[in-house]
Amino acid sequence: MSGIRFDGRVAIVTGAGGGLGRTYALELARRGCAVIVNDPGCARDGSGASAQMADTVVAEIRAAGGRAAASYDGVHTAAGGRAMVDLALREFGRLDVVLHNAGILRDRSFRKMTEDDWDAVIAVHLKGLFAVCRPAIDAMVPNGYGRIVLTASGAGLFGNFGQANYAAAKMGQVGAMQVLNLECAKYGIRVNTISPAAATRMTADVQQSSGTPPECVTPAVVYLASEACNESGIIIRAQGGRFSRQAIAFNAGVYFGPEPVTVEDFAAEWTTITDMSGARCFSFGDKVAEIIKQSAREVVPRSRG
Ligand SMILES: NC(=O)c1ccc[n+]([C@@H]2O[C@H](COP(=O)([O-])OP(=O)(O)OC[C@H]3O[C@@H](n4cnc5c(N)ncnc54)[C@H](O)[C@@H]3O)[C@@H](O)[C@H]2O)c1
Repeated sequence: MSGIRFDGRVAIVTGAGGGLGRTYALELARRGCAVIVNDPGCARDGSGASAQMADTVVAEIRAAGGRAAASYDGVHTAAGGRAMVDLALREFGRLDVVLHNAGILRDRSFRKMTEDDWDAVIAVHLKGLFAVCRPAIDAMVPNGYGRIVLTASGAGLFGNFGQANYAAAKMGQVGAMQVLNLECAKYGIRVNTISPAAATRMTADVQQSSGTPPECVTPAVVYLASEACNESGIIIRAQGGRFSRQAIAFNAGVYFGPEPVTVEDFAAEWTTITDMSGARCFSFGDKVAEIIKQSAREVVPRSRG
């Protein structure tokens, strides 16, 4: 197979025992990548454990002539993250790619949500990012190369009833991406985020997936994981056969000058301050403050006028 290849590359795919992660692992392996198939084999809510999920995917990869090893560690502890990175180094000698895909759900409306519901979801999605990426980046730095793909969600970017814990964890991926993008650029490490939608066990009882199989998301993730993608800090939405970019936008707002204004001054301009019709997206490094100041509507505060 020519085109985008991963020969000599080594990847960790977390939560690769089923759903989206499995398709990522299979496609990377098909393209020459050695893959650590990480999955503790738990249920959708994080309970239980079984080696079978990871083992099955490893067997599928090997049967097709690829290279893979199973990791049964949980991403929710630093020791688990460290162990899967050590396994990659021990089995395959290096680490080039991390797809942080592992996830669980504990959906409940916020007023019914327990501390355990909150902590369990934050631990897998958000602490898991730290637990895996922290040692992974250390392993990538000496090679001056790395590709990390984090996993956000429409629930995090736009909200979804009953998913405050999940949405907070998923939007946290975006915040961490923005920082890792800056901190890791000089090491040749690119950090991007996928916001997927697909029919998996996670979405078995919701409409949002549009019924498309995980394979409809895989091309975006595999591209972001490849050397061909030299960009960083990008959120790609993959839903129902459509790929698009999502970003944080803001408007120019109202410029009152450098002196404090009254609450009434602020309230009087609420409509303009919140009008997103001329909103734009900016990247770090753009002279945002200057651009904003130039295009903002200048207002003399009534309290001073
Ligand atoms: N399917 C969708 O439409 C959709 C939408 C938005 C975001 N996502 C995200 O995509 C990712 C994959 O989800 P999916 O739909 O394939 O669901 P899935 O339940 O099939 O896959 C998640 C995998 O993560 C594993 N996992 C759970 N806890 C783990 C832990 N502590 N350590 C390592 N692995 C663990 C599970 O065993 C499971 O195999 C998740 O991060 C999910 O939040 C999915």
